[in-house]
Amino acid sequence: MNRRYRKTIIAGNWKMNKTPAEAKTLIADIKTAVGKQKWCDVVLCVPFVDIANAVKAAKDSRIAIGAENMHFEKSGAFTGEISADMLKELGVKYVIIGHSERRQYFAETDNTVNLKIKAALEAGLRPIVCVGETLEQREAGITEEHIAMQIKLALAGITAEQLRKIVIAYEPIWAIGTGKTATSEQAQEVCAHIRTVIRNLYGARLARAITVQYGGSMNAKNAAELLAQPDVDGGLIGGASLKAGDFALIVEAANQ
Ligand code: 13P
Repeated sequence: MNRRYRKTIIAGNWKMNKTPAEAKTLIADIKTAVGKQKWCDVVLCVPFVDIANAVKAAKDSRIAIGAENMHFEKSGAFTGEISADMLKELGVKYVIIGHSERRQYFAETDNTVNLKIKAALEAGLRPIVCVGETLEQREAGITEEHIAMQIKLALAGITAEQLRKIVIAYEPIWAIGTGKTATSEQAQEVCAHIRTVIRNLYGARLARAITVQYGGSMNAKNAAELLAQPDVDGGLIGGASLKAGDFALIVEAANQ
């Protein structure tokens, strides 16, 4: 973290978990557990059907509600899809774009990621853009190249002004849901690399200001060490965001 230059953001990604009624209860618990966070922003990205309850439950707290995906078109014949304007109207502030599970299971590409980022920004949503390498790519020594390519393609056509609204999440695919966290050195190395890529594209000031999160088996035990790294500005948390107590401990670690 480097609070002098950029915001620390702790975000939960519930994935396909919790019904609307369960969402209400969990957010009430999280609200009590996290108390007053001074230093970091807290976001909960929840399934579409949970959003209305989540926004209501998070009212009068500093918890912002996010979505986990959206479509890039404004409206039209796209059965089963949800647009940025629909999310915005419900009170959504953030949206995860290009999560590796979307890329892997739902054929999202760097191009659709780029289109979605643009549509989200246009609607006034803050995209949390996910990038990350597979184990094969890491072992082949092409992590940095791969991440640089994902970022360049995701941000194609994005202006400097628009970049200020974007959060980047580094999520090594081999660390997601596996219990196998990247070491704090590995997380720092890639998050710093992401900042270098941004610096080359947009200059030093914007690179210094962008929030780069780490995601992949972050939990109450390892959060403090990961967040102590200078270029790790928060977390995108799956499993541990489903337990109010664990999530609150991560938020607490970000407030140290
Ligand atoms: P886990 O924290 O369950 O590994 O999930 C990470 C993730 O994919 C967050 O987007």
